[in-house]
Amino acid sequence: MTRNPDRAASASRISVDVDFNVAFRHRLRFTGDVLGADSDVLADLIESSESRTPRVQFWLDEHVAEANPDLRQRLHAFARRNNHRFQIVGNPQTAPGGEAVKNDVHVLERMLKVLNEADMDRRSYVVVIGGGAVLDAVGFATAIAHRGLRLIRIPTTTLAQADSGIGVKNGVNLFQKKNWLGAFAVPWGVINDRTLLESLSERDFRCGFSEAVKVSLLKDANFFDRILRDAASIAARGPACWSVIEESAKWHLRHITGGGDPFEMLEARPLDYGHWSAHKLEAMSNFDLRHGEAVAIGVAVDTVYSSLVHGLPAEDADRVLLALERLGLLCDHPALRRTDELFNGLEEFRQHLGGQLTVTMLDAIGHPIDVHEIHRHRMAEAIQIVVDRVREKSQ
Ligand SMILES: NC(=O)c1ccc[n+]([C@@H]2O[C@H](COP(=O)([O-])OP(=O)(O)OC[C@H]3O[C@@H](n4cnc5c(N)ncnc54)[C@H](O)[C@@H]3O)[C@@H](O)[C@H]2O)c1
Ligand SMILES: [Zn+2]
Repeated sequence: MTRNPDRAASASRISVDVDFNVAFRHRLRFTGDVLGADSDVLADLIESSESRTPRVQFWLDEHVAEANPDLRQRLHAFARRNNHRFQIVGNPQTAPGGEAVKNDVHVLERMLKVLNEADMDRRSYVVVIGGGAVLDAVGFATAIAHRGLRLIRIPTTTLAQADSGIGVKNGVNLFQKKNWLGAFAVPWGVINDRTLLESLSERDFRCGFSEAVKVSLLKDANFFDRILRDAASIAARGPACWSVIEESAKWHLRHITGGGDPFEMLEARPLDYGHWSAHKLEAMSNFDLRHGEAVAIGVAVDTVYSSLVHGLPAEDADRVLLALERLGLLCDHPALRRTDELFNGLEEFRQHLGGQLTVTMLDAIGHPIDVHEIHRHRMAEAIQIVVDRVREKSQ
């Protein structure tokens, strides 16, 4: 039987649409020694009252725990000093470090079991100390347990301090796709601590600055100029790196809290500049490439493309490559030759959000634009220019 389109709608049809807002608070702190002289910053983020002693559980990135053998002892001392304010539940838990934690969904299941056995509730706090991958995975477990526990992130990589630790995205990888399974959840608080970066490898230390370059290109040409000027000193872990991490973190925070689209309902995702290829390259390299390295390649390629197609002055594109080079981040990878597979990343990028393809490009430094079409032969040309530049410099 077919419906008669002319038939009058039933009298019981009702539509109710209501717009509403929910206020969130994002708490970002910077410390020099969060488990020592500045441990009151962490203690103060945990709300306690006379009637209620909150439960607190620590989760550690295994590589951070290995590289800092006194970490557990310091956490126990912190717990003893504050046992009148909150209750630390059990020993600190460890999670596999790096992308491995996001690539095995059984690890997530184990996290949920531990949270359940510890009787964590919505007013309990999970304090996670680790790199961006561990923060993403533990963050996702806390976002879905009881529909959301309070999460305090203590990022231990430059990338997580400058970018991911501040964000509201949590998730793990599934179906060979980055962050396919995940949730938006605003962290209760984030503490960027300098001491915890000391044990970070040179490679991972450099990685974070690709996100700082990215955000500077989107938001502030003067910030980019400073990164370019100080790049060699930053790569050598000189003092200039602190203000760059701080400024990058604040730009990400401002974008999320004041940009009008924290949960990415719109098609444009400017903070994902250079990321359509970065995410794909990470997966294509079997995660040999770190996120920060893949972002450096993605930013380099999209910047050159912006100069070929969107009017970004060629000398500005050149300065961006120079900054990445001086930061020790401009690199090549065999996956860049598999351009057909790489271009599938564009479709995955679109699918992640739905709607029409929207990619951020630049028409000037500090001036992003949304584009809805990528000319593949020009993009292949941009990739070749970046690859040639790396080859030229390594000879
Ligand atoms: N949620 C977001 O908005 C967002 C944004 C950007 C990136 N990310 C994600 O973040 C992840 C990358 O994070 P990352 O760059 O921080 O790297 P990572 O978490 O993969 O860490 C790199 C390596 O360093 C180790 N490590 C971390 N801190 C250390 C320390 N202080 N001392 C010794 N070893 C340490 C880790 O165990 C790991 O082996 C990717 O999965 C990426 O997709 C998420
Ligand atoms: Zn990123």
